[in-house]
Amino acid sequence: MAKTILILGACGQIGTELTLTLRNLHGSERVIASDIREGGEELMASGPFESLDATDPNALEDAVMHHEVEEVYLMAAMLSATAEKFPDRAWHLNMTSLFNVLKLAKEKMIDKVFWPSSIAVFGPNTPKDRTPQSTIMEPSTVYGISKQAGERWCEYYNRKFGVDVRSLRYPGLISWKTEPGGGTTDYAVEIFHHALKHKSYTSFLSAGTELPMMYMDDAIRATITLMRANPEQLQVRSSYNLQAMSFTPDQLSAAIRKHIPDFRIRYEPDYRQAIADSWPGSIDDTPAREDWGWEPQFGLEETTAIMLKELGKRS
Ligand code: SER
Repeated sequence: MAKTILILGACGQIGTELTLTLRNLHGSERVIASDIREGGEELMASGPFESLDATDPNALEDAVMHHEVEEVYLMAAMLSATAEKFPDRAWHLNMTSLFNVLKLAKEKMIDKVFWPSSIAVFGPNTPKDRTPQSTIMEPSTVYGISKQAGERWCEYYNRKFGVDVRSLRYPGLISWKTEPGGGTTDYAVEIFHHALKHKSYTSFLSAGTELPMMYMDDAIRATITLMRANPEQLQVRSSYNLQAMSFTPDQLSAAIRKHIPDFRIRYEPDYRQAIADSWPGSIDDTPAREDWGWEPQFGLEETTAIMLKELGKRS
């Protein structure tokens, strides 16, 4: 039997599209989707699904043995805004799931691991523009602390035990198939739904809050390219910086107005403003470009046009 790929957290914003893309590449049966609850219709119809809690080491080990898993993508996590409300649960989910997977890789039960990190690893003392790969970090959110600790553990397991774990510091991800949940960058998805439905949006971040963002197709391509790269090329075993575009709510609303001229935006910043203020505005991703040829394809104009077109088909 051909070995399989296991996606943990397959029903989330990234997991859904990652699973569908990997199934196209490898065949449906070879990609096992798993999550604690079922996902969207397209995902559930596309191939095998298993109900699995990534924090349960025994259930995870059973699934890995049963399906002869060789690669794991660990996409289960609690994002920044929700994690501020439930710090203990966030730490437990984000760290326990990672340890469970790293330990299976250490014991050679799986060959390769993908684990997502985030721009949230950076903090208020980090240089804001073109943030370098290696710099002051000092994250100030529960989510950011879990991601930074996770990066250290990934590098440690690689250096000490030869575990082939690969990681990307995703920026805010914009997609139309599955909505994000509980993140600080979620405004950049919500705004499209509201623009089409109400021609107006109240942003929980202020007009001038610049954050790094990426269209989902770029994020999936980056993930798969990194996982296919020759291990010798990969100098970074914590997590790679990744940049595609940077914009503010004001700039995004101007891009939407080119399609919906009477679209209006209002600003009512809430607790998420402080989280966004602690993160970079743009990222220097030179190591990703040099080591495995990263290059983004979608900018603000393209992303805006696709989002309005695809979501518009539903309304
Ligand atoms: N998009 C995530 C969030 O806002 C950051 O990784 O929490």
